[in-house]
Amino acid sequence: MSDLQSRLTQIVGAANVITDDFAPYANDWRKKYFGKPLLVVKPGTPEEVAAVVKLCAETKTPIVPQAGNTGLVGGGVPDESGHEVIVSVARMDKVLEVDTINNTMTVEAGCILQTIQEKAAEHGRLFPLSLAAEGSCRIGGNISTNAGGVQVLRYGNTRELVMGLQVVLPSGELWDGLRGLRKDNTGYDLKHLFIGAEGTLGIITAAVIKLFPAPRATQTAFIALESPQKSLELLSHMKGALGDRLTAFELISDFGLSLVTKHFKNLKAPLPQTSPWFVLTDVSDSRDAAALAEEVEVALGEALEKGIIFDCAIAKNETEGKRMWELRENMTESQVHEGRNIKHDVSIPISKMAEFITAADAQLEKAYPGVRPISFGHVGDGNLHYNIAHPLDRFTEESWMKEWEHINLIVHDCVATFNGSISAEHGIGQLKREEIKRYKSPLELRVMRQIKAAIDPQNIMNPGKVI
Ligand code: FAD
Ligand code: MLT
Ligand code: ZN
Repeated sequence: MSDLQSRLTQIVGAANVITDDFAPYANDWRKKYFGKPLLVVKPGTPEEVAAVVKLCAETKTPIVPQAGNTGLVGGGVPDESGHEVIVSVARMDKVLEVDTINNTMTVEAGCILQTIQEKAAEHGRLFPLSLAAEGSCRIGGNISTNAGGVQVLRYGNTRELVMGLQVVLPSGELWDGLRGLRKDNTGYDLKHLFIGAEGTLGIITAAVIKLFPAPRATQTAFIALESPQKSLELLSHMKGALGDRLTAFELISDFGLSLVTKHFKNLKAPLPQTSPWFVLTDVSDSRDAAALAEEVEVALGEALEKGIIFDCAIAKNETEGKRMWELRENMTESQVHEGRNIKHDVSIPISKMAEFITAADAQLEKAYPGVRPISFGHVGDGNLHYNIAHPLDRFTEESWMKEWEHINLIVHDCVATFNGSISAEHGIGQLKREEIKRYKSPLELRVMRQIKAAIDPQNIMNPGKVI
């Protein structure tokens, strides 16, 4: 046993230092990155995390923070050097406090997102962060990636949902910023540095998160329409008719939907006829369900009359609504079953989304005739998952992967012409670390490096990620 291993064992106990069977920690969800850690350490308290980091700082051992390991950009996966220690917060999975007057919950960083949602519901509250990985991602990871998901339209990104943080700095010092304050103008708001930092500035050990009143009624509708432009018209119409009760608004292409029904035989498209595009939407309210149902029906009826949509199915009950959402939630997994494609997670001003899709489709078709974009995502907040599958006649899945950089260049340059972002919600991790150099200004990159150097002068906290 190495000296480092024996000292880590003294801190967390032998059962919590993993020395083999690294696969669940070392490989990412998409099986794109296969890292080789020195060890995996699983502290049980913030003090243990602090002691582990202090030891790593003393020995200049690089650390990779990890929560649920569902990230899509390789941020929580070690490199192949065999030198990096994964610090997993998975054991720290308790809800510490629910305050229904302050409308906050204090949680350890390893709490599973779904557990938090369920705990909030037990208290008649809502924690609105919602994404398909919610059964396995953990709040420390959600905060570190500033996760988005399907309800950003109404409640904002994770950044808007975090009120306080407790963080172990790369020095091993424990910063206790676990405050549940709605107002606090006492200088730089440090928590925002750690939100979305993808583990490069410290290890989040606990958080105070914001709760909302639980909605009493939700109406889910699956809508057929002609084009992304029509989806923007529908978005504007629905916002006008229903205001901030519009909670989710997801665009799905016909091809994207067909992959879900192909690979999940138990799931059926809610509408009988085919359509090039669909929208899945939720409208929720803390008042009467019958009144909401009527308002949604009227709004969609008007959209039909105005020729914005072809057809729609409104879920008659919660079960039907859930079935509609299962189609959306299984989109990522259905693409895994179909075979590898080239993923993009882009942000575009909402009003320009349709123009972007037309422009990017045309540029790709010119470069690769027969290319098959799988477009879907959170169009209500300007976030498109624009995944590109290979033309069937000239490429195989393997030869298509060699085009990765060129396709990225076409898509991301197109994003830049719309003043968009090459990562809307998944982050930079390892996947886009080189690419951001092309799209962020030298000034932005310099300030980011200065912040990193100020907080982590030894560069031990998730080195090689983000910058
Ligand atoms: P991990 O993967 O463990 O880590 C993610 C990053 O955070 C890494 O850089 C890691 O080093 C760092 N980190 C983890 N824990 C800590 C900590 N305690 N302190 C400091 N740094 C830490 N993302 C979205 O935004 N929206 C979606 O709709 C969405 N849908 C998804 C659907 C599927 C099927 C899958 C597989 C993923 C999806 N994701 C989505 C991506 C992923 O689930 C999110 O990025 C999630 O927030 C990651 O949480 P995690 O606990 O798995 O973090
Ligand atoms: C989603 O919205 O389903 C995710 O962000 C995952 C993906 O991009 O595949
Ligand atoms: Zn998404």
